[in-house]
Amino acid sequence: MTQWTRFGAVIALAAVIHAAPVAAQAKPAAKPAAKPAAGGAAGGEIALGDSLFHGAGNCYACHGAKAEGAIGPNLTDAEWIHSKGSQTEIAAQITHGVTKEQSKSGIVMPPKGGGTLTDDQVKAIAAYVYSLSHKS
Ligand code: HEC
Repeated sequence: MTQWTRFGAVIALAAVIHAAPVAAQAKPAAKPAAKPAAGGAAGGEIALGDSLFHGAGNCYACHGAKAEGAIGPNLTDAEWIHSKGSQTEIAAQITHGVTKEQSKSGIVMPPKGGGTLTDDQVKAIAAYVYSLSHKS
């Protein structure tokens, strides 16, 4: 990351911290479901993960509405910084977040995106995120 994008990210992060609670409330999260993962995750679980990603999980605030990357990295490509990108690893990542020590950019990810998600909700979000980079 260049100095400039890093600076931009910090500004954006500050904006997110102020905007996130409002955005989370204002957004009912109705988006069409992504294609089911090739691995066979149930379409319903992916659709649930999609709405949580754009709602209670707050993921969109840092990773972008299309998970294309913003403050947090792009989740739609084949490049994974912290794991090999399996669905199980993604679920663990969501549960634990990314500490300052682990973070490549120096920006932290709070566990469960800073929200309160059940294990099943974490699993659903992981299925959705996995599906983004495994479209058939
Ligand atoms: C406050 C901002 C923030 C929120 C909210 C957030 N993330 Fe993150 N996320 C990050 C940052 C920052 C990183 C990686 C930091 C680094 O290493 O540079 C990251 C990393 C990740 C990774 C690992 C990516 C890789 O390439 O290995 C996954 C997967 C992920 N986030 C998913 C999610 C999901 C799903 C949610 C919602 C439950 C979420 N994040 C919420 C900021 C956020």
